[in-house]
Amino acid sequence: MPMTADPWPLRHLVLRTPRLELRPDDDDGLFELIEVARAGIHPPEEMPFAFPWTDAGPEALGPNTVRHHWERRASIVGGSFVVNFLVRLDGKVIGEQGLVAEDFPITREVSTGSWLGRACQGQGFGTEMRAAVLMFAFDHLGAETARSSALDGNEASAAVSRKLGYRPDGTRLLVVRGRRRVERRFLLTAQDFVRPKWTLYTEGADACVPFLASGQIPPVKP
Ligand SMILES: CC(C)(COP(=O)(O)OP(=O)(O)OC[C@H]1O[C@@H](n2cnc3c(N)ncnc32)[C@H](O)[C@@H]1OP(=O)(O)O)[C@@H](O)C(=O)NCCC(=O)NCCS
Repeated sequence: MPMTADPWPLRHLVLRTPRLELRPDDDDGLFELIEVARAGIHPPEEMPFAFPWTDAGPEALGPNTVRHHWERRASIVGGSFVVNFLVRLDGKVIGEQGLVAEDFPITREVSTGSWLGRACQGQGFGTEMRAAVLMFAFDHLGAETARSSALDGNEASAAVSRKLGYRPDGTRLLVVRGRRRVERRFLLTAQDFVRPKWTLYTEGADACVPFLASGQIPPVKP
């Protein structure tokens, strides 16, 4: 990478769908995201997340959330990344869409995870934001496959996967809140992707491709 390359090209990345704007997390947006999480993502008796991070009380949820996101930002290295896109509707944060890869230059595979505040669920936003990062992954980064998973009972997440063309790819057992849960896995190939009818508009994508996909970012040196 040339010395003059932008040290953090993700700050210029924008993915635009017909209704939503997705940008890698920024601090102001993170504080908005915490308020969305505090207002509720799921009924308290249900737990859709393999790591039950929403069980933290309202006080701990804030610091936990910012630290988690900062840690993920700082750990992007050598083709392994977690990019947490904040999802905005009419300029307001409504949830987030993660795009994850390990050793991407070799695997050419991504996985995703997402959530929306309860008020914004069931209106097609989850499908729209997942489709946005899939188009970024397949069409810009050159991904060949994408994975997703949903805990038993999470029909909305599984339905989003099915609509976009993922196929069932087995299960895995997890312990969540001390209980045995079955996680359903889904696998999507670039060829099977059921593309939405709309076009994804991007800004700043070109500079992010080498940053994320080439493995050129060196580890932090002491
Ligand atoms: C999962 C989530 C991101 C999906 O986003 P969303 O905006 O609610 O989803 P969409 O509206 O795009 O699509 C949901 C689909 O699930 C379907 N669905 C919802 N509940 C369902 C149920 N109980 N049974 C069958 N299908 C169901 C809907 O009908 C819809 O399909 P359709 O468009 O063909 O009608 C969102 O619901 C969410 O944040 N849930 C809580 C957190 C979570 O579960 N995160 C994922 C962890 S793996």
